[in-house]
Amino acid sequence: MKKLVVIGDPIEHSLSPLMHNAALKELCLEKEFHYGKLRIKTEELADFIESIRKGEIAGANITMPHKVNIIQYLDELTKEAELMGAVNMLYKKNGKVIGHNTDGLGCLNSLKENNVSVEGKKIVITGAGGAARAIAFTLALNDVHEIVILNRTMGKAEELARKVKEKTGAISKAGSLEKIKEELRDAKVLINCTSVGMKSEEGTLVTSEVLHPSLVVMDVVYNPLKTRLIEEAEEAGCKAINGASMLVHQGAIGFEIWTGKKPPIKVMQKALLEHLRMSS
Ligand code: ATR
Repeated sequence: MKKLVVIGDPIEHSLSPLMHNAALKELCLEKEFHYGKLRIKTEELADFIESIRKGEIAGANITMPHKVNIIQYLDELTKEAELMGAVNMLYKKNGKVIGHNTDGLGCLNSLKENNVSVEGKKIVITGAGGAARAIAFTLALNDVHEIVILNRTMGKAEELARKVKEKTGAISKAGSLEKIKEELRDAKVLINCTSVGMKSEEGTLVTSEVLHPSLVVMDVVYNPLKTRLIEEAEEAGCKAINGASMLVHQGAIGFEIWTGKKPPIKVMQKALLEHLRMSS
């Protein structure tokens, strides 16, 4: 039995096991692989990586707070992880433990599944943390026209926009959240990469008055499934894509690398949506 795990601290809330075990079952791989969760503290990271090197664990997802910290213990990074400076997935190849980042590609695949292309378009991102970084770099490598990063802390948005421009050559600029109305006017996609929306009392950074129907709105927050932003987007007549879609797609990329099999996306989605609907 090959062990796959998601590690983090805390980890109880992770929905990755649910999604991956449903996919393993669908492909009749549940005797070959099992996906679990492990609470790992920062001081235990080196030993954890050693257990992958020794073959005791076949692969892993990495979540908060280890996405950056873990890099020092790895043998290699993929070009995505290198560029983003963060890792959310590990696999072993030729005896080496390799760190990868599937967040950005997960977002792009989720847009594709919803028939949204990003080429030549202006994209507005709210937030400048880990999720924003992964998504901004991926969009920059996929021929968008312009990326605008708006964040509560302007300095962080400026730093991310500068790095994206420096490392990819893409047109990217930064601003404060007050600029949202102005920036959305000629934008085609808005992606919320802040944590706003996780708690219902937080509301939303963007309301329907500033949205236009030809805008696609995506939220990386997946719990609740229908955030205030998604509600506002629907009210404005926009195509709205919830965070569960990106979560499934980022997981699916890892699944394929570990098992070598095409992931059953619909099955993963169903398992996740059923759980989220039940808990909301
Ligand atoms: P992640 O790795 O999930 O992206 P993160 O690195 O903690 O998480 O980033 C969270 C993002 O949400 C940040 O952009 C943060 O803004 P700041 O950089 O100003 O902290 C944003 N965020 C969190 N709470 C917010 C709030 N109440 N209003 C606006 N932005 C908020």
